[in-house]
Amino acid sequence: MKTITLINGDGIGPEISEAVVKIIDASGLKIDWDVQTAGADVIEREGTPLPDRVLKSIKKNKIALKAPVTTPIGKGFRSVNVQLRKSLDLYANLRPCKNRPNIKTKFDNVDIIVVRENTEDLYAGIEKQTDDDTAESIKIITRNASERICKFAFDYAVKNNRKEVCVVTKANIMKLSDGLFLECYRNISKDYPNIKTREILVDNLCMQLVQNPVQFDVLVLPNLYGDIVSDLCAGLIGGLGVAQGANIGEDYAVFEPVHGSAPDIKGQNKANPTALLLSAIEMLKYIGEDFYAGKIEKALFKTLEKGVFTADLGGNKTTTEFTAEIINNLND
Ligand code: NAI
Repeated sequence: MKTITLINGDGIGPEISEAVVKIIDASGLKIDWDVQTAGADVIEREGTPLPDRVLKSIKKNKIALKAPVTTPIGKGFRSVNVQLRKSLDLYANLRPCKNRPNIKTKFDNVDIIVVRENTEDLYAGIEKQTDDDTAESIKIITRNASERICKFAFDYAVKNNRKEVCVVTKANIMKLSDGLFLECYRNISKDYPNIKTREILVDNLCMQLVQNPVQFDVLVLPNLYGDIVSDLCAGLIGGLGVAQGANIGEDYAVFEPVHGSAPDIKGQNKANPTALLLSAIEMLKYIGEDFYAGKIEKALFKTLEKGVFTADLGGNKTTTEFTAEIINNLND
């Protein structure tokens, strides 16, 4: 039996984790979940939102499914997510944004893969207060990180029959940092003559995405633009409740939804587990469990096709009812 680390998070994390574990269990796939708590709820007991045991567990099991955790603002703790990505060198953040059955959105046929660099840029966390009225944050872009994320995007395109990889920067203004990212993209692209290239500035991309998103295929972006653009793309396909993600490195992979811990609906049985479930489906494909991934995906899509929705998608189902419906549809 495969052992997978499960970080059940805080806020709505435990509710949606429970739902996803139930669905996978009902599919017939046996997984030994190594449950690890992290986030705001463990700070008091363990003095840190990301205890060492969590990293040890992922290093042992190689694969983790992660529900969201709250990042306390301005309390001296670094984000668990940023720390995880850095400690495990999960350099690629993969966020597929595709229309899902029966979820009404402005555009049909959106199918965009956002590949976000995950380890540097303004997320390097190098900030200082230079005087009472001035703060500085340093943007780090390196050749090594930029080349490997561009290579990841092109490799993904080849493996998944994608036609184009478009690089997104603001290299007209940040000529050195974004300029370096662009230069790396151009160098790497030469090794992939069958994949079309395209270069776009991030402000223009945002405008194009809200007017005509269907024109985009794979996007590769430095960390900050990737973070913002992937939320925009999540909005195109029905919102955060259905936006999945994965953080992938050479040795480890952590699958997690794009959304946060949604403290506003915590404990109300309202949360949509779809984004975590889609992330888990991607995880099952990643570890070679394609049969069960397909079976669960079919049951989820059938549920959506029937118009069974949680409140974020305009429905009236609780998390528990929505989960039960997916389980019902597993054996149809
Ligand atoms: P959020 O994504 O938690 O919530 C934004 C809005 O979307 C809220 O109205 C929320 O109710 C709704 N929403 C999100 N997920 C939903 C779901 N599955 N079902 C139904 N509605 C859902 O963003 P927010 O409020 O900015 O962040 C809350 C906390 O989460 C912060 O501490 C933030 O740092 C953290 N966070 C954690 C992430 C992670 O663990 N990967 C990612 C993003 C934020």
